[in-house]
Amino acid sequence: MAEALRIDGKAAAERLRHRVAAEAARWMALHGEAPGLAVVLVGEDPASHVYVRNKGAATRAAGLVSVEHRLPATAAQDEVLALVRALNVDPAIDGILVQLPLPPQISAQAVTDAIDPAKDVDGFHQVNAGRLWTDGGGLVPCTPQGCMILLGEVHDRLAGLEALVLGRSAIVGKPMAALLLAADCTVTIAHSRSRDLPALCRRADILVAAVGRAQMVRGDWIRPGATVIDVGINRIDAGEGRSRLVGDVAYGEAAAVAGAITPVPGGVGPMTIACLLRNTMIAAGRRRGWGMPEL
Ligand code: GUN
Repeated sequence: MAEALRIDGKAAAERLRHRVAAEAARWMALHGEAPGLAVVLVGEDPASHVYVRNKGAATRAAGLVSVEHRLPATAAQDEVLALVRALNVDPAIDGILVQLPLPPQISAQAVTDAIDPAKDVDGFHQVNAGRLWTDGGGLVPCTPQGCMILLGEVHDRLAGLEALVLGRSAIVGKPMAALLLAADCTVTIAHSRSRDLPALCRRADILVAAVGRAQMVRGDWIRPGATVIDVGINRIDAGEGRSRLVGDVAYGEAAAVAGAITPVPGGVGPMTIACLLRNTMIAAGRRRGWGMPEL
């Protein structure tokens, strides 16, 4: 069988960011204001600093307003909550993102649930999580939304397909399952306690791997012709003091069996920030009465 189609997440993310930029420019011309995204970073986690810098750069590049708030690692939970409440009532701010992880003295759930659900561009608030499983009218978590957009590159219709989500996190696995169900897939959620993961995976027309274990999904776990979406980003030792990024799927083996597959890097990863900008536009359109952005 031919090698699987490689789903280019970098290119798809770039197209989405361009659509956001075009829509933001149209709004700027119409209303003289651009949507604003506030990112809150607490502490010194080096990976978080890189993410926040990248989010700020992407936000400004799309013509949106980026505001960053940095608090020391010693900040009290009340300080973070006070900042979130101030951003909730700031009319220039449409989206609020508190970068995770937070230092141990601060509860991520308490902070997330203090964010106005209408500004919760991560989609992590319990109101948005609940809406995802009910009317679907809330803000949707960025990584699963990005996965759905990539699936749309390969499939015109998902209805009736068998989908297997490997992983049950609140950030990826559960919302991913809700989105696939809303698209009329037959959805299974598998996890570390599931019996016979390879057999469960082999049933799937669509396999979404989000477990955070390097190259766990092997080629013989994959149904021939299936679409594989690899959410994992794992750094492994590449010898000689070097490291490299790999997904949760053994790419080479999987690409020999699958019909289509996302690479790591360059697959799901770039979609997450693009979907954050998309959510900021959606939140702004609703809050300011500018309507649904055309993305
Ligand atoms: N840390 C790693 N990924 C994310 C994300 O998508 N949102 C937030 N808030 N923190 C993160």
